[in-house]
Amino acid sequence: MSDIALKVVDLSKHFVIRNNVFSKKKIIHAVRKISFEVKSGESLGLIGESGSGKTTVANLLLKLIEPSEGRIELFGKDITQLSEESMRIYRGDIQIIFQYTHAVLDPKMTISELLREPLEIHQVVAKYQIDNEVDRLLELVGLSKSEKNKFPSQLSGGQNQRILIARAIATRARVIVCDEPVSALDVSVQGQILNLLLKLKEELNLTYVFITHDLNVVKHMCNRIAVMYQGEIVEIENTEKMLSDPQNPYAQKLIKSFLT
Ligand SMILES: Nc1ncnc2c1ncn2[C@@H]1O[C@H](COP(=O)(O)OP(=O)(O)OP(=O)(O)O)[C@@H](O)[C@H]1O
Ligand SMILES: [Mg+2]
Repeated sequence: MSDIALKVVDLSKHFVIRNNVFSKKKIIHAVRKISFEVKSGESLGLIGESGSGKTTVANLLLKLIEPSEGRIELFGKDITQLSEESMRIYRGDIQIIFQYTHAVLDPKMTISELLREPLEIHQVVAKYQIDNEVDRLLELVGLSKSEKNKFPSQLSGGQNQRILIARAIATRARVIVCDEPVSALDVSVQGQILNLLLKLKEELNLTYVFITHDLNVVKHMCNRIAVMYQGEIVEIENTEKMLSDPQNPYAQKLIKSFLT
């Protein structure tokens, strides 16, 4: 098995937009020829100003959008050209945790149903084991079984984020992309969720790509940091080195603005 969980080579994505039928087409180069690798068990932080392309990278990794160019490998397997059908096998192996739980959690489903869903879709366990598996997931993310019959609106923001995390690990994903997973949460809850993510990383040997605006978060969570600027990765370096001695002028500016 490949020691490299994720490998991205010359990955690009451009969007063609047109405000109305009469205006000229405009091309937005959201991601420009980026390359990086993430080792199994590693956590790579992706930072950069708003609009620098971070979420587009996340969507590309999850194959929620198709790349304009380049290649994505998951544990040594090229998944760039896989059809929807063949991708299903790999879909469980890479999952995403978004910032806003309400955009993902169907308000009409109970917590139990929300956790059963990925288990059934990905056929993770036999049917008769699903109830037990739901309980195991709840325990892993620090929620009580008594929450099972509640709806998302009856839980706190932090508890809903725990449900998203449980759904991501339900498929036995080995790679999890976290796109600002705590930014919508109360500061007092952020630390708890980050610690849960760290605990799960250890217990399940997860690999993270961690997108955030908060350098304190990357410092706490990540082994390495990639700095994005206008769709490019301008520098990629170990966390400590990046934060203390960035080389690229934009990375220097970004890190300095946070420290002052
Ligand atoms: N579906 C789309 N159609 C057209 N343009 C898009 C689309 N998605 C993203 N973009 C553009 O691509 C660029 C990168 O956007 P992206 O959402 O990846 O940035 P980001 O780094 O995640 O920003 P933020 O920190 O604000 O979340 C932006 O200019 C954005 O407007
Ligand atoms: Mg984003």
